[in-house]
Amino acid sequence: MNTAVAVADFRTYPLISALRGVQGLADRVVIEWADSRVSPFHHVWLRDNCPCDRCVYSVTREQVFESVDAAEDLQPLATRIDTDGCLRIDWQDGHLSRFDPGWLRAHAYDDESRAERLAGKPQSRLWHSDLQLPVFEYAALNDNAALLQWLLAVRDVGLTQVRGVPTEPGSLKLIAQRISFIRESNFGVLFNVQSKADADSNAYTAFNLPLHTDLPTRELQPGLQFLHCLVNDAEGGESIFVDGFAIADALRLEEPQLFQALCEIPVEFRNKDRHSDYRCLAPIIALDALGRVAEIRMANFLRGALETSVAQMPLLYRAYRRFIAMTREPRFRLIQRLNPGELWCFDNRRTLHARNAFDPATGVRHFQGCYVDRDELLSRILVLQR
Ligand code: OGA
Ligand code: ZN
Ligand code: ZN
Repeated sequence: MNTAVAVADFRTYPLISALRGVQGLADRVVIEWADSRVSPFHHVWLRDNCPCDRCVYSVTREQVFESVDAAEDLQPLATRIDTDGCLRIDWQDGHLSRFDPGWLRAHAYDDESRAERLAGKPQSRLWHSDLQLPVFEYAALNDNAALLQWLLAVRDVGLTQVRGVPTEPGSLKLIAQRISFIRESNFGVLFNVQSKADADSNAYTAFNLPLHTDLPTRELQPGLQFLHCLVNDAEGGESIFVDGFAIADALRLEEPQLFQALCEIPVEFRNKDRHSDYRCLAPIIALDALGRVAEIRMANFLRGALETSVAQMPLLYRAYRRFIAMTREPRFRLIQRLNPGELWCFDNRRTLHARNAFDPATGVRHFQGCYVDRDELLSRILVLQR
């Protein structure tokens, strides 16, 4: 039994396939797995990832070794599969590394393993007007398994509703903190969505609000938005949602040139009051490293005058108008009135939200809202899944 640490992590890795054979080449070790997959690992990569407690501090599980601390051409003296089924490498400089086969398989970077991992990544499930809205009961969310189901729906669908929430002002804080830290903004930790005489945003009037994301004026838009209904006695004020990713994908198919313009030409969003002046210049559609739609930024009521080259201005307007026209198409829109004790929780960087105008003469309408960053959601999911 070999006791040197073989994994330096807060979780364990299932044994998907055992190590069957090891072959040493000039700059790498080639593993053959019991299921016949072949995974090369470069020496420099293996030395860098040594999990021993001289390389990784056992308390934080963070690396203290830096790759440049070992010789660039460091070679193994001996490489073998030990009696625990771990890969054991005795290095030329006297260092010893052991690698757990589950961890190695989870980090293998041969083409097949990388393709498999990419395919296993959570995918956004695009939706249209016929979405089966994921609905959760507040009381059930004390249970971690139910909490995880809710958070997975927020991550993958980007729109959820929770029912049975207390209607005391401030209750939202407790539920958002079930996920993690609330992101405070100039509108407060919790913001009150009510028609106000001294409104510092169109949100705080009784006007209709067209489909938008919140705080497009910030370099990082809040990842999650909560809107909690305390009172909804006024006529009108229905909530409307569209999946911004579904619209962007449809635009990409239907009018690729307009899609590209929204990915490339930046637009300024701004929000000012007596004490603040926020501005952000960014394209309406952001793509990730793989070219997939990763973010939508849009609030017509917060947009500055468009500025681009004279040659491009007509194209930018065509693209901008087309995107907004698509947000108005019934095929994308889900409309539902929120009742007291219900809340929306949605991905603010994906799902656009709107409300119809309401008539304050017919009754009170009071929602409270807050934001949580997407990092907090993803971290909570990974911890619940450990
Ligand atoms: C907002 C907003 C929606 C509503 O405050 O940003 O979109 O239903 N409110 O009042
Ligand atoms: Zn080590
Ligand atoms: Zn809003």
